[in-house]
Amino acid sequence: MSEKTADFKTREVHAGVSPDPVTGAILTPIYQSTTYVQESVDEYLAKGYSYSRSGNPTVAALENRITSLENGIDTACFSTGMAATSSIMTGLLNAGDHVVLSDVVYGGTHRLSTKVMSRFGVTFSFVDTSNPDNVRNAIKDNTRLILTETPANPTLKMTDIAAVSEIASGRDIPHAVDNTFLTPFYQRPLELGADITFHSTTKFMDGHNITVGGSVTCRDEKMMEDIKFARNCLGSNMSPMVAFYTLQGCKTMSTRLEAQSANAMKVAHYLETHSMVDRVAYPGLDSFTQKDLVDKQSSGYGSMLWFEVKGGVESGKKLMNTLELWSLAENLGSVESLVTHSVTMTHADMPREERMAAGITDGLVRLSTGLESADDLIADLKQALDSL
Ligand SMILES: Cc1ncc(COP(=O)(O)O)c(C=O)c1O
Repeated sequence: MSEKTADFKTREVHAGVSPDPVTGAILTPIYQSTTYVQESVDEYLAKGYSYSRSGNPTVAALENRITSLENGIDTACFSTGMAATSSIMTGLLNAGDHVVLSDVVYGGTHRLSTKVMSRFGVTFSFVDTSNPDNVRNAIKDNTRLILTETPANPTLKMTDIAAVSEIASGRDIPHAVDNTFLTPFYQRPLELGADITFHSTTKFMDGHNITVGGSVTCRDEKMMEDIKFARNCLGSNMSPMVAFYTLQGCKTMSTRLEAQSANAMKVAHYLETHSMVDRVAYPGLDSFTQKDLVDKQSSGYGSMLWFEVKGGVESGKKLMNTLELWSLAENLGSVESLVTHSVTMTHADMPREERMAAGITDGLVRLSTGLESADDLIADLKQALDSL
């Protein structure tokens, strides 16, 4: 069967990998070697590899798989999601350039922009990208990148990928979309007009809390070349062991997402009924303010949700200390259900005023719903909420 015509569920198992030609091993081996011996000076790089910082066969197998799933032309994998984001910025930007960024983004992306890239003469406008007009109005003559995250961490604010991509392409500015929360199973930014889609593969692609990693997929060769050049210079490449684990995680990505999303929907419905809960946000709920946009650009709702517990920071803290099955942890997207208090954890570095303006309120509790029984997950939330 041609890889191009195969269904997503077939490609997530097979794309990029064929049985080892020497041994028949069904899994691409972990090529744990720094160095690749060359045929001759004249045939240097005949086998495609020289030194593992520049490329590795196990990592290449994962890159090929993600390229297929995201429907791009090529992918580069990184040591972490943040290495992916920083290589997009260092690969594409120069001193004096300006970037338009979503006002709600992963805390590390905000930190990278305001505390690192700003020191190298790059300026940023954080705007509410849920209204594409705000993006249009924020563009300056020196804008060289538009970076959005949708759904955004942690408020799940959505950006209309097609609308922002149209604005970006009209000005010849690349639009990069952090697609971590929905994965290419539910949302494919390149098909909606974006130029770059990137991930913390740490999350749903791995899915088992085993590795940290990142990926960037492009549909333009020059952009990919610039980002790979940055990766090689910065030395932020993924290790073969991480690529191996991520290749295995990818195989069950859609199945996990379907089950985890179904759990998230049940949890969201339950939370809506509890008297200690002020507000629940889950893209699959009819009450979700941007439900129409989700339905337009995504084929599923994901496993991430949040709620506002009554009583602010104190209630939030007590709740998390009382939960037993939900683990208090910063990660997301794994088969284990995790709970995060964004204000004290992932977004601790963000100034309070900016945080509140972005909707990251004191009582915001973020849930990453795992694969456990929905009944058990709800029972645990009930006992913790009842105790407040
Ligand atoms: C949406 C999003 N993008 C990027 C990152 C950074 O990824 P990593 O932790 O793998 O560096 C995270 C981490 O939580 C995230 O949630």
